[in-house]
Amino acid sequence: MNNNPIGILDSGVGGLSVWKEIAGYLSNESTIYIADSLNCPYGSKSNEQIYQLSKRLTQFLIDKKVKIIVIACNTITVLCLNKLRKDYPKIPIVGTVPVVKTASERSKSKKIGILSTENTAQSEYQKNLIKKFASDCNVVNIGTDKLVPLIEKGKIDNKVFDNLLKEELRYFRESGIDILALGCTHFTFLRSKIERIMGKEIVVLDSGSAIARQVKRVLEANNALSSGSFSHVFYTTGNIETFHQVAKKLLGKEDMKMVKSMERISI
Ligand code: DGL
Repeated sequence: MNNNPIGILDSGVGGLSVWKEIAGYLSNESTIYIADSLNCPYGSKSNEQIYQLSKRLTQFLIDKKVKIIVIACNTITVLCLNKLRKDYPKIPIVGTVPVVKTASERSKSKKIGILSTENTAQSEYQKNLIKKFASDCNVVNIGTDKLVPLIEKGKIDNKVFDNLLKEELRYFRESGIDILALGCTHFTFLRSKIERIMGKEIVVLDSGSAIARQVKRVLEANNALSSGSFSHVFYTTGNIETFHQVAKKLLGKEDMKMVKSMERISI
C-alpha cells in the first residue's frame, strides 16, 4: 500500500480530462495536478523546449513525493516520454497517446482519423504507433495548433469557435473515416461538439479511460494502491483566476467539489 498521491502533468487544462477519469476510476487515490499554463501551448514549441519544460514539471511532482507520474499530454508523451523515463528511472511514468489500436480494431471502413497538435501529428512516435497498430487502415493523421489556446482560455462557447472547429474537422468529414481518435487531451473537452459536427456515423474516441486503467495496473503491480482518504490539489504556473474559471467550466460543479485547493506556483 502507498498513500502518496498520483502526479499528473500537462501544458495546461487539457490533462484535467485525464484527471477526471483517474479521480473517478481510482476513487481512493489522491492526486497532484500541475498545469504549465504560463508556457501553454506546447504544440508549436521545439522538442528541446518541451523537454526542458516537462522535466521541470516532472521534478516538481517528484519533490511532492508522488508515487507515479501521468503525462496527461500527448505532445509531451510522443516527444519526451522515453527521455523522461531515462532521467527518472525510479518512478513509474505513464504516458498518453491516441487509442490507435482500438480505433483500427473498431473501424469497419478501415479508414480512421487522428486529431492531434502539429507536433504530435508529425512525430515519429505517432507515425510508429500508426505503423504498429493500424497498418491495415488508411489513417488521416492531422495536427492543429489553433484550438488549444482557445480551450486554455475557456473561449469555446461561441460561434467563431464552432466555425473554426468545423473547419478543422472538414477534411475528416470528407475522408470517409468511421472512427476519430483524439490525440490531444484538450480536445476531450470538445467531444460533444466534435460528435455533433462529425455526425452519428463517426465514433469519437479519447484516451482518458485507458490511461486510468493503465495507472491502476501499474499501481497494482507495484503494490502501491492507496488505502487512505483522498485529496486533490491543483497547481498552475499561470494566472490562478483564469485557471480556476476555466477548470470550473470544463469540469463542472460536481467535479470541482472534489478539488481541495488550487495554487499558483513558479518552477
Ligand atoms: N494537452 C496537450 C496534448 O495532449 C496539449 C498540447 C499543447 O500544449 O499544445 O497534446
